Amino acid sequence: MTDCKSRIIAPSLLAADWSRVAEEVIRAEQAGADWLHLDVMDAHFVDNLSFGPQFVSIVRPHTTLPLDTHLMMTNPDHYLDRFVKAGVNRITVHVEADHDVKKSLAHIRSQGCGCGLALNPATPFDAVLPYVDQIDLLLVMTVVPGYGGQPFMEAETMPKVAAARQYRQEHGLNFHIEVDGGIDHRTVHIAARHGADVMVAGTSLYGAKDMAAAVAAMRECE
Ligand code: DX5
Ligand code: ZN
Repeated sequence: MTDCKSRIIAPSLLAADWSRVAEEVIRAEQAGADWLHLDVMDAHFVDNLSFGPQFVSIVRPHTTLPLDTHLMMTNPDHYLDRFVKAGVNRITVHVEADHDVKKSLAHIRSQGCGCGLALNPATPFDAVLPYVDQIDLLLVMTVVPGYGGQPFMEAETMPKVAAARQYRQEHGLNFHIEVDGGIDHRTVHIAARHGADVMVAGTSLYGAKDMAAAVAAMRECE
């Protein structure tokens, strides 16, 4: 299991109050978050529509936290450069999207960003094998993407997290293993036990009365 103290906690801005987004971003940083997770949704790859590069450029100046950008988009290539220009630090695209995965990942890296690959609960781990030597992060979705506040899908997703950790070890790779969806003070331990080291949480952190306490609880060792 990864060392709980080095666990990366990444609140998802999807669950924040967008009418006060600057304050919400500062709140996450002051609460001790390590990254800020930006859930970009295009109303095509997923049902929901969230925000784009212009919104990200409004967020950027208010935080020094790395902006961990999750593109739930059918055609991410069309927007990669605009998110880079908006100041993001890492970009994750979906293996299921309509693009040349290798090309997208290489392009993200060529722009100086960390590159990540995401897979939905129904997508087998084998689908990402051709690319894992090219990524800085593997995002194992723990809900069907589109909306916050959904229940954690343990049975469908934890075996993939464990498989990713094993594959990484056997092949001397060192990508982060990120989970996203239904992560709270309880499920964070299940994900960590299987090998996840980056925890994305929207509802359980932005919905918490005391965000700092909720972030700290996410870092507690089991
Ligand atoms: C995909 C989104 C959500 C969000 C976190 O739907 O990526 O998973 O980040 O959602 P909750 O509110 O479950 O932490
Ligand atoms: Zn996400």
